[in-house]
Amino acid sequence: MPGLSEKCVIVTGSSSGIGQATALLFAGKGCHVTVCGRDASRLQDTLERCKQQAATNGHTKSKFISVLGDLTDAAVRTSVVEQTVQAFGSIDVLVSNHAVAAAGDTVETITEEAFDRTINTNLKSGLFLLQTAVPHLGKSKGCVVYVSSIANFCCTKKGLFAYALAKAGLEHMVRSMALDLGPKGIRVNCVSPTFVKTRIFRELYPDPAQLDAFGSLYEEATPLHGLPSTPLEPAQAIVFLASDEARLISGGSLRVDGALMCKGNPPNFI
Ligand SMILES: NC(=O)c1ccc[n+]([C@@H]2O[C@H](COP(=O)([O-])OP(=O)(O)OC[C@H]3O[C@@H](n4cnc5c(N)ncnc54)[C@H](OP(=O)(O)O)[C@@H]3O)[C@@H](O)[C@H]2O)c1
Repeated sequence: MPGLSEKCVIVTGSSSGIGQATALLFAGKGCHVTVCGRDASRLQDTLERCKQQAATNGHTKSKFISVLGDLTDAAVRTSVVEQTVQAFGSIDVLVSNHAVAAAGDTVETITEEAFDRTINTNLKSGLFLLQTAVPHLGKSKGCVVYVSSIANFCCTKKGLFAYALAKAGLEHMVRSMALDLGPKGIRVNCVSPTFVKTRIFRELYPDPAQLDAFGSLYEEATPLHGLPSTPLEPAQAIVFLASDEARLISGGSLRVDGALMCKGNPPNFI
């Protein structure tokens, strides 16, 4: 993919799942990458794998750093931006991918504390991370990709109420950001993945049999049958939106769901 080599990229939530797959793809294309998360050992694993991926692809000059911490904390967001600029000299791409999900959140049962935690993590911290990075993204005419979800389209029957609300907010926020930041040459888009078996869902479904059953529901309901839904599918869409090939794409949302949402609603979430 042209135009990605030596770009300076931040991928939040890259200690596992879709974020890790995204960081590895950027590393394989010769980018300098900042990986972020709260779990030190998982983050170190991503960092090592990025280095290996770059070496395998002959990118010997690529640099990688990790920034540990909770992105709901303003000091951590500042640190992510400052450490990236210090290490690489600029920021070309910001991928805001981090999120949490808590089962059992319904309109009737959600507590104020649980609501704040989800909205702060999944929506607010992504806004203020971008705000901190804007001066650098303006200089580089950079771009931003948020990771939303097909959950943004629909109200779930049980659970994940605040998660879906935050994702719906994210989709709208991306359109406002594209309008506000377009004159600075900054593009903003989001990617909306379907179900992928990652840690976020393993924590929602600790029973592997239940998780497999849930995965089968999605497979059966997806019109594009028989294709895998792995972290790589959304990661590839993220990398495309970050590339120069997407230079006129801003304010958009790219579904990676095998046409599932053309039906109007996914299978039951919880
Ligand atoms: N899996 C799916 O089916 C699916 C479907 C649609 C959309 N998505 C979206 O895809 C994105 C990635 O999720 P995933 O499926 O790859 O799950 P995952 O493996 O659990 O990844 C979530 C990442 O977010 C990080 N994170 C969570 N809270 C954080 C905080 N407060 N500060 C900093 N980092 C934080 C986690 O890092 P630590 O644990 O190290 O803190 C982890 O790296 C999320 O936005 C999710 O909503 C997932």
